[in-house]
Amino acid sequence: MPSEPAVIAAPVSIPAARAPELSIVVPTLNERDNIVPLIREIDSVLDGVDWEIVFVDDDSRDGTADLVREIGRGDPRVRCVQRLGRRGLSTACIEGLLASSAPYVAVTDADMQHDERLLPSMLAALKSEPYDLVIGSRYVAGGSSFEWNKRRAQISGLATRLSRLICKADIADPMSGFFMMRRDTFEAAMRRLSGQGFKILLDLLASSPTPVRFKELPYEFRPRQHGESKLDSMVAWEFGMLIADKLVGHVVPVRFALFAFIGCIGVVVHLIVLWTTLTFAQTSFVLAQTVAVVVATTSNFLLNNFFTYRDQRLKGMRILRGLVSFYVICSVGAVANIDVASYVFQARPSWWLAGIAGALVGSVWNYAVSSVFTWKRR
Ligand code: GDD
Ligand code: MN
Repeated sequence: MPSEPAVIAAPVSIPAARAPELSIVVPTLNERDNIVPLIREIDSVLDGVDWEIVFVDDDSRDGTADLVREIGRGDPRVRCVQRLGRRGLSTACIEGLLASSAPYVAVTDADMQHDERLLPSMLAALKSEPYDLVIGSRYVAGGSSFEWNKRRAQISGLATRLSRLICKADIADPMSGFFMMRRDTFEAAMRRLSGQGFKILLDLLASSPTPVRFKELPYEFRPRQHGESKLDSMVAWEFGMLIADKLVGHVVPVRFALFAFIGCIGVVVHLIVLWTTLTFAQTSFVLAQTVAVVVATTSNFLLNNFFTYRDQRLKGMRILRGLVSFYVICSVGAVANIDVASYVFQARPSWWLAGIAGALVGSVWNYAVSSVFTWKRR
């Protein structure tokens, strides 16, 4: 007989169930040790408010989602949205917000680096003052960050200036991951959100159809107690993708632009391998060309897996399966490429026009089909 799922004692006392007035969305990746302290903290600061917490977990290895569900079995205000084969702080927040229905919604991290004691004043400001959004800010008077050095200040200043390209609002801390808004503010922007990377606040501000009336409240960004930061050196890259998507995404999807760019790198790789093989291995041209095709296709696959599809990166055995599907798709793409180019060349004997037409059709095919079969969303 299957055993009953575990229910652990609720970490806090539970009032009679009422619909939440405030949903707090918390993205998590390996934050098991922070869950109970965070729930306790939120419960103690939000006395008199009907709240719920939606944890959005990207299949953490440390059992974060299991713990949240165990708590949820005893306390219906604690919920878990678990995502499989996906990564991304921004999309996690978006999906958590979509899974809630409260009239006020907040986003905060699980690691208590943000100061949850700000939540009541954020809610009060939204209810009684003409604001759409209240931001917990490290960079207004009274706010601070424990990790402060000149280099970080420079990087942060540069990022803030870059963020002005896509968001005109004069916000001291547009990179904050701690904020609260009215539900309609989110709903007005949600269909335009980019979801790239981890700057969900910036994405929201840049995607809002009307200027957002906002207020910044200072807080002290604290050191982490448990676990470690998830933001690695690719953070700058993801930030660039968000800016690019907001600037030109309505013309060319950034994923496609990146895919096409990596395709161009593939041409260079191809030529280098072809030349090297012919020069040093002295093989037949056909063999050298075959080696070059395989190496270039493989390097395109790996680069796309790392950059273009970072948020759904294939790992382990899935890499092999993905690579095989990518070979198959690209070989069909190559046939289409040659067919289209020959057709154009017959109509108008311009080698470069025919070449570009073939390459364009081939890369659109490769992109469209690999996005469905190789990097399918699970
Ligand atoms: N679901 C999900 N998926 N959660 C994630 C992912 C992901 O891919 N990556 C990180 N998280 C969760 C972490 O578990 C944590 O709860 C939160 O997102 C923030 O991650 P940290 O790794 O702690 O980031 P940080 O402390 O360096 O930066 C945070 O605070 C800054 C200041 O407000 C982030 O919120 C930044 O966006 C913010 O600028
Ligand atoms: Mn953190």
